[in-house]
Amino acid sequence: MQPERDAKDRQLDADRVPLDDLTMTTDQGIRVDDTDNSLKAGLRGPTLMEDFHAREKLTRFDHERIPERVVHARGAGAYGIFELYEPLADLTSAAFLNDTSVKTPTFVRFSTVAGSRGSADTVRDVRGFATKFYTTQGNFDIVGNNFPVFFIQDGIKFPDFVHAVKPEPHNEIPQAQSAHDTFWDFVQLQPETLHMVMWLMSDRAIPRSYRMMQGFGVHTFRLVNASGQGTFVKWHWRPVLGTYSLVWDEVLRVQGNDPDYNRRDLWEAIERGACPEYELCVQLVPESREHDFDFDLLDATKIIPEEQVPLRRIGKMTLNRNPQNFFAETEQVAFHTANVVPGIDFTNDPLLQARNFSYLDTQLLRLGGPNFPQIPVNRPIAPVRNDQRDGFHQHLIHESRTSYAPNSISGGCPAAMDGYRHYQEKVEGTKIRMRSPSFGDHYSQATLFWNSMAHWEKRHIVAAFLFELGHVARKHVKEGVLVHLSKIHPDLGAQVARGLGLPAPATGEVHTNASPALSMTGQPRSVATR
Ligand code: HEM
Repeated sequence: MQPERDAKDRQLDADRVPLDDLTMTTDQGIRVDDTDNSLKAGLRGPTLMEDFHAREKLTRFDHERIPERVVHARGAGAYGIFELYEPLADLTSAAFLNDTSVKTPTFVRFSTVAGSRGSADTVRDVRGFATKFYTTQGNFDIVGNNFPVFFIQDGIKFPDFVHAVKPEPHNEIPQAQSAHDTFWDFVQLQPETLHMVMWLMSDRAIPRSYRMMQGFGVHTFRLVNASGQGTFVKWHWRPVLGTYSLVWDEVLRVQGNDPDYNRRDLWEAIERGACPEYELCVQLVPESREHDFDFDLLDATKIIPEEQVPLRRIGKMTLNRNPQNFFAETEQVAFHTANVVPGIDFTNDPLLQARNFSYLDTQLLRLGGPNFPQIPVNRPIAPVRNDQRDGFHQHLIHESRTSYAPNSISGGCPAAMDGYRHYQEKVEGTKIRMRSPSFGDHYSQATLFWNSMAHWEKRHIVAAFLFELGHVARKHVKEGVLVHLSKIHPDLGAQVARGLGLPAPATGEVHTNASPALSMTGQPRSVATR
């Protein structure tokens, strides 16, 4: 059964090229009846410059490639709809979170992070889970991953981190795996990575299907209600099918048999009507509780354990339509953490602040200039009206005689109604290039993760460390990592050291700031739920 047509689907009709007309033309609309032979001077003569069709055809081919995403280059996308369970007016003024009768169109792109566009789907890696909500108030994006934490705390480290993750520069090896010296060198020197590295070595890093994968907004964001009151929020996507992984032996086989394994699974499921569903859940923290935790809410290397703040289910997204053209839609879609609607705002998480700069910046290059929001998949269903003008690939024909404000000629100032109001947070401080001490504990939640694992999951984690570190050439890098693993848990350090044939580091005092209650709970549901 065809899904009901939503506002985004109908909007795209204007850009669709139907299959029903089989005539061929040049880009200028001139009919072409021979695209097999170039225009030559004589049967065996040279090709003529004046063959505009051949020149156009070759030129267009020569220019088909655009830069792939600097990270998350390999991905697969789908359209869907989001339905709200209950109005959230006490928390946010966002219209799509207030009206349960509205079905908000969405586009989701799942991705791996490190590999290039043509790499295999089933590598051990983080997965992107980016969602664009085409709301009546404009586009809102949750640009998330399938892990709830990140490798670094401050976005200024992102270029260093990605340079360490990507293939080594001399031989471009390994193409899409963390089994190499530069990645582990970064880890051993930057222990804030450790919590995320535990997730990366777990089975969560080899999801069985995009349909069976969680998503997380990672950062603490902010909801703001109509009275201007803020509430901290963490976004979670929960797949209705449950969360399942491959195991490593399967990965080795699947990758050889079908490098498109996850992409194919998503496409085929949607084609046969087995539409993937994900519940959107939130963890909510009133501002008065901001400092009630033994970690900093602004630190993206930390989860909020669900014992402390349970999940609330607020709605469901159903992916019900495959894109019609991979390049036009999945490749050209542009997500951005700074795409927010009224009622949703940021926090001062320094990783988030950097992302709010970086996505637009990279898309200006990747998508060829400032008019990429006009590309059909990126275009809001809400009207767009402003004084931004010109630039490469401008598609809009502005009828206004002015493009400045205020003006007294064609309509003057923007109407001061329902505009986006930034949350009125009081900010003051001395300029300082330093990490807050509240970001200083890099071990407790890595330990919490290890403790929450079943014995067989621990075995898989140790095996993953052995596989990955087993490919590291430099002994001092392996030894540096082992010191950290022993601090996370002496058993982990000892088992990995034994497997690598290296002495287990002396454990000494395990560094931890966590409250005993938190450490002993051992089962943060966000980690252990499967
Ligand atoms: C791309 C997630 C951190 C820069 C992406 C994508 C996702 C994602 C899902 C793929 C989007 C798509 O499908 O098109 C995350 C998460 C992060 C994180 C969850 C941390 C919590 C960062 C940071 C930076 C960054 C700190 C830079 C300061 C980029 C860039 C792209 C990207 C440049 C490529 C975007 C494009 O070409 O369209 N990220 N990212 N990310 N990310 Fe991040």
